[in-house]
Amino acid sequence: MRKNVAAGNWKMHTTVQEASLLAGQLNALLDAKNVGENTRVILGVPFTHIAVVGQVVNRNLISIAAQNCAAEEKGAFTGEVSAEMLKSAGCDAVILGHSERRAYYGETDEIIKTKISLTLKNDMQAIFCCGEVLEEREKENHFNIVKAQIENALFDFSAEDMKSIVIAYEPVWAIGTGKTASAEQAQEMHGFIRQTLAKKFGQEVADNCSILYGGSVKPANAKEIFAKPDVDGGLVGGAALNAESFHAICLAF
Ligand code: 13P
Repeated sequence: MRKNVAAGNWKMHTTVQEASLLAGQLNALLDAKNVGENTRVILGVPFTHIAVVGQVVNRNLISIAAQNCAAEEKGAFTGEVSAEMLKSAGCDAVILGHSERRAYYGETDEIIKTKISLTLKNDMQAIFCCGEVLEEREKENHFNIVKAQIENALFDFSAEDMKSIVIAYEPVWAIGTGKTASAEQAQEMHGFIRQTLAKKFGQEVADNCSILYGGSVKPANAKEIFAKPDVDGGLVGGAALNAESFHAICLAF
């Protein structure tokens, strides 16, 4: 059975010291009141914070994700961080294809596919992000956009590979805007994504894939969104930067 996942994406926030404090606070809250057995908590932290956060938290309570990795294995790529390096630093997962990486750093589905492949090769989970921009939704083209993103980035992987891939649907118009997709809009897209997976990989793969919603998830709306049958949790930006609010979201299943 697929897992519920509460994943925080800290983006480019917090110093190492602040991160250590925040992770420690969350760890204490989860230690006092933990999520159910079928729920996984993941923190997506900046590269520089991986080792420190890894030491602060109980790894049975909290997994650690990076927010990107290089599209090359190793070599003369100044400033890049490889999947192998992330694994060796203690990462369990890598967030890939976030809309901010697509929009500001020119990441294409082809590049994202390569990064997913390197992530899986290094025994980490890939959290693959997809989602339409406002104009695409207004033109009612959102299903086609998300379908194309999934086809281009994921369809060359095997059913076995899909066991290590989590999908995060993040409508770009809902990210950091305070404007959440309604629980119905989320369910509609998540159901469509699961159907798309079922057609390509079979029903079992589709049923076992965790599909997260991202975009202005808060303690106040998490319960309603997570209650939808095809929503298996959230990828949380702003609200993950506060231990109490992220803890409340972790308990919203
Ligand atoms: P917000 O929760 O701040 O809208 O960010 C969502 C997001 O981009 C998570 O990856």
